[in-house]
Amino acid sequence: MKPSSRLERIPPYLFAELERKIAAKKAEGIDVISLGIGDPDTPTPGLVVDALSAAATDPGTHQYPSNRGRPEFRRAVADFYARRFGVELDPDTEIIPALGAKECIFNLNLAFLDAGDAALAADPGYPVYTGGPVLAGADSVALPLLPERGFAPDLDAVPAADRERARLLFLNYPNNPTGAVVPDGLFEQTVAFARAHDILAVHDASYTETTFDGYVAPSFLATPGAKEVGVEVFSLSKGYNMTGWRTAAIVGRAEAIDSYWRLKTNIDSGMFEAVQVAAVAALERGGDAAATMSEVYRGRRDLVCDALRDIGVEVNPPKATIYVWAPVPAGHSSASYCELVLEESAVVLSPGSAYGASGEGFFRISLTVPDERLGEAVERLRSSLGG
Ligand SMILES: Cc1ncc(COP(=O)(O)O)c(C=O)c1O
Repeated sequence: MKPSSRLERIPPYLFAELERKIAAKKAEGIDVISLGIGDPDTPTPGLVVDALSAAATDPGTHQYPSNRGRPEFRRAVADFYARRFGVELDPDTEIIPALGAKECIFNLNLAFLDAGDAALAADPGYPVYTGGPVLAGADSVALPLLPERGFAPDLDAVPAADRERARLLFLNYPNNPTGAVVPDGLFEQTVAFARAHDILAVHDASYTETTFDGYVAPSFLATPGAKEVGVEVFSLSKGYNMTGWRTAAIVGRAEAIDSYWRLKTNIDSGMFEAVQVAAVAALERGGDAAATMSEVYRGRRDLVCDALRDIGVEVNPPKATIYVWAPVPAGHSSASYCELVLEESAVVLSPGSAYGASGEGFFRISLTVPDERLGEAVERLRSSLGG
């Protein structure tokens, strides 16, 4: 049996060696603390769970859903976008559910790329921006996000040949893994760039509801012209502690949403209707829970940033997301530093290079572990790496 050549082109999994070492440590009985994965550790808000429980008892939710989504789901997304971002959306043509941002981003590649086409993908970035195009039989072209540019890509630097073959552009602010918020003017430049080169701009809004210090994250679609050239994928996973629920919406340019819908009718049968009802509850009444979670992450961010400074790592405290992105000390690669930390303190960090070539020289800490474990991890870093 031979896997497809598409599958074989997927880049090697950079966590593999680290995972082998973690497993070996655990087998020796060592208490390993993982700050690797970004998966909220606290439960989904009760009002969302209650809405699901009630909706699940209604036989009206038990049959195949439609890929268009329930009218009240689309209405709730439209109301949320108007209230939260000042963006007007037509619930009939500009909104449909997605089974998580991951599914949506992957399937956009299938919907829009042919062999020879390319997707421009933030680097470092969420791995589906680069794996998705390859699985769709096309290519991905890295858009380096550099600290000196506030982690904005230099769209003018994209080579002409890549601009011409690009059909998709993936951006994400607040950003995983860098924690950066959108630099001034970038969304406007993106609209102009997408229009000039007939590219569908895809903004991944997975972290807009997790922000600190008074920062309020905008929607890409609030940028003049954005709805004509782009879509936004809004996920409930991180902001509402709903990673397991597979709940998101794609909103924006109607023709793009229609193509995605046509593709999806051939792939899956939509989102369980009771989950759609629960998502309505989250969007209408979950704001306080999201704000409470942001406050929890802010406290953890401060704990981690203080500890990193104490051990000599210079770090900019992020204004958003559930991550801290920091440079590895001189003389180390991302992988060698993460291995050293695992060896010395049994704490797992993510090597920046796992998110793309431009992530080399950095590591990522996820704040999604309970305060007590995070405190313990931080003490271990201080005592084994400090001084
Ligand atoms: C930038 C980004 N996009 C998308 C996702 C996946 O989101 P979802 O759970 O909605 O599939 C993640 C998860 O880590 C992410 O970091």
